[in-house]
Amino acid sequence: MKKFLIVIAATTAVQSLSAQDVKNLQILSFKTKKETMDFMKKTIAPSVGVKCSYCHNVRDFPSDEKNHKKITREMMLMTQRINENTIKPLKYKPVTCWTCHQGNVYPPRHKDDKNKGHEH
Ligand code: HEC
Ligand code: HEC
Repeated sequence: MKKFLIVIAATTAVQSLSAQDVKNLQILSFKTKKETMDFMKKTIAPSVGVKCSYCHNVRDFPSDEKNHKKITREMMLMTQRINENTIKPLKYKPVTCWTCHQGNVYPPRHKDDKNKGHEH
């Protein structure tokens, strides 16, 4: 009986740890740090061609000290709005970070585009 109780206590501890794993998600709805990290590794970082440290102090991922992270939140909101307001009503496939960025932190612009955008 004692052993049984210890097992329950250990399981509860693991669950509550992972439940409060992420500290500062304002847009994404992941529950765990692991899910968030997988998404960052597979989707966010490769779409814009940068390392984690471009947006994060890698010793403190929840911190908002880097402006690139804050701009990225605006990008996430913009992408959601484009899909909700325009793409979905037209029944097109959702746009993603990749649609514009294609692996570049500053999306490529056509050579004749008068709006030069940022230098690489
Ligand atoms: C282009 C910017 C960008 C890059 C690159 C990036 N992240 Fe993030 N990351 C964000 C943003 C923005 C959030 C917060 C999203 C929100 O508020 O919903 C976030 C949140 C997180 C969180 C959640 C922290 C918490 O507890 O609040 C973790 C963990 C994380 N990122 C890990 C990583 C890892 C690991 C990498 C590299 C593989 C990475 N990120 C690359 C922008 C970035
Ligand atoms: C509709 C096109 C579009 C989409 C979709 C888009 N971006 Fe952007 N993004 C831009 C443009 C344009 C800029 C500014 C580049 C310039 O002026 O050269 C930019 C700039 C950025 C920057 C540079 C931030 C800085 O500090 O200067 C990051 C990082 C970024 N986007 C991340 C993302 C991520 C992550 C997503 C997906 C959640 C995303 N973007 C979706 C068009 C887009």
